[in-house]
Amino acid sequence: MNDSPQADALIEKILQAARGTFEIFGMYLGVRLGYYQALGEIGPATAAELAARTKTNERYAREWLEQQTVAGFLHVDNESAAENHRRYQLPQPYKEVLADQESVNYLGALPVILAGAVYPLRAVTNAYQTGGGVPYKDYGIDLVEGQAGMNRAMFLNELANKWLPAISGVHRRLLEDPPARVADVGTGAGWSSIAIAKGYPKAIVDGFDLDEPSIDMAQRNARAAGVDDRVTFSVRDAADPKFAGRYDLVAAFECIHDMSDPVRALKAMRNLAGANGTVLVVDERVGESFSAAKNDIDWMMYGWSILHCLPVGMADKPSAETGTVMRPDTLRRYASAAGFKSVDILPIENYFFRFYRLNP
Ligand SMILES: C[S@@+](CC[C@H](N)C(=O)[O-])C[C@H]1O[C@@H](n2cnc3c(N)ncnc32)[C@H](O)[C@@H]1O
Repeated sequence: MNDSPQADALIEKILQAARGTFEIFGMYLGVRLGYYQALGEIGPATAAELAARTKTNERYAREWLEQQTVAGFLHVDNESAAENHRRYQLPQPYKEVLADQESVNYLGALPVILAGAVYPLRAVTNAYQTGGGVPYKDYGIDLVEGQAGMNRAMFLNELANKWLPAISGVHRRLLEDPPARVADVGTGAGWSSIAIAKGYPKAIVDGFDLDEPSIDMAQRNARAAGVDDRVTFSVRDAADPKFAGRYDLVAAFECIHDMSDPVRALKAMRNLAGANGTVLVVDERVGESFSAAKNDIDWMMYGWSILHCLPVGMADKPSAETGTVMRPDTLRRYASAAGFKSVDILPIENYFFRFYRLNP
């Protein structure tokens, strides 16, 4: 047997990845079963106490508590006690990451969206052979809820407080009378629409998405947020040429790269904005060009792309076959084909997103 340092390094990398995979899906159980939430509320607990609080099975709860402790997510107070007397706790600084959906540091949605991304893995494998795609709905509710949870806190904290105020004409118009109208295409579970309505108390927001479960969820979210008098949601294809209306702001958050026909969607957005409205596309901050050099955003976005965004975008034919890694030049090409004269990249800082204004 050859003892190659490169092979050793690869083996180490793969084993670390397996470790990470177990940790992610252990987190999935903790989020979905309400274990982190419960531990955050009741403090150090035995397996029996956690099981009672969450209405789950004690034997499973104990196995999970032990796994989480070994993985470094929980602390055990009395390690050498008998197994049914051991008390486990969620360290205080971990609460916002694992149990506080309102925090921008919340990552409890990540295992949920990852579970969604691999849900139709065999169909995805098949698509690689046939050149077909996998419809968004086949990724199930984990994908929809995970996507919503990943962006919720960022939208609620930053969209109306930081991003839109940095686009001066838009910010001013959203504050003025008569009330500004906003179209949010590919809104998903609606958090971007809700964030705009909360931040701009006069604005009227229409959110659109192709996916019915997402729109149902968006409607529930708007009601719970108390903005359903100014925010409406409907199932609608952004690329529908009959899409009509007049809006001061037409925005698409993290969805143009998912669309089978992004040019038609951008054309529809141009029509909705008319001569005076603003078209804003917010999409992944991937590198300007392909490079083998380590780039954390490309590394992550290629992961989403191979499993989810590219197969989803290839489900309807003909397809632009974009994928998550939509580089600025690709968007410029789509925008030009949709009739826009130019594209500005706005100087708004965000680790994941790049902000494009498309000029008619
Ligand atoms: C990655 S999710 C983003 C959702 C939301 N904007 C967010 O940032 O959380 C992409 C969304 O685009 C929607 N979508 C894809 N193609 C669409 C189309 N042609 N028309 C309307 N929505 C579309 C999907 O249903 C999905 O909800």
